[in-house]
Amino acid sequence: MRRKLVAGNWKMNGGLAANAALIADVKAGLAVVGVQADIAVCVPAPYLAQVQAAVAGSALALGAQDVSAHASGAYTGEVSGAMLAEFACKYVIVGHSERRAYHGESDEVVAAKAVAALKSGLTPIVCVGETLAEREAGQTNAVVGRQIDVVLSVLDAADVEKIVVAYEPVWAIGTGKTATPAMAQDVHAMLRARLAAKNAGAAVRVQILYGGSMKPDNARELLAMSDIDGGLIGGAALKAADFLAIVQAAQGN
Ligand code: PGA
Repeated sequence: MRRKLVAGNWKMNGGLAANAALIADVKAGLAVVGVQADIAVCVPAPYLAQVQAAVAGSALALGAQDVSAHASGAYTGEVSGAMLAEFACKYVIVGHSERRAYHGESDEVVAAKAVAALKSGLTPIVCVGETLAEREAGQTNAVVGRQIDVVLSVLDAADVEKIVVAYEPVWAIGTGKTATPAMAQDVHAMLRARLAAKNAGAAVRVQILYGGSMKPDNARELLAMSDIDGGLIGGAALKAADFLAIVQAAQGN
């Protein structure tokens, strides 16, 4: 049985005071509901040190939202994997659809970022997902399959179990529209088959998250599907009560 992972993606939200309050509330809530899942918050880079200190000694793991494909040098504005590791990041999101859409990140760039994360000892949360037009054209498996295959093509087989995958249909992100559990399960099963083609033993251990308007009222049914191993949570991760409710759904409590 795979352990569930609930990862908050704060996106470009927060501030020193709001972050402190949110982490304090989440930690207090976890003390009540207990921790039987992996739980993380992926925060904007300027707040890594603040949140590193705030989560120290707790069950909350720290993550970042992007990493450079490069190790160091003349890449203004970028943040390296080694830098993230210095702040005790465990996870880093790569290939979020907002980065693909607004920053022109190709499948190849996303793959290079996943490799860079692994080199620094970070767990990349590799995001994949189709647009509404692609789904309506019946291309979901082709698009999502291509996105994961490009990443897998640059990984050593032994590294497959060091990644997390997040299926985030673009049309469900921030829209309030969620894939039905059956729709998501179909894509998750396809993703696990792609992972298995590279490393069958690892594929059964990789956590495949669903993301896209996961909320307290739909988390339980999504997380009940056999290949949905957690959630990448945007909007609902900014409210402690909602985030905690999703953690409880993941934990079955
Ligand atoms: P959402 O975002 O939960 O607000 O839809 C999820 C994500 O983009 O990671």
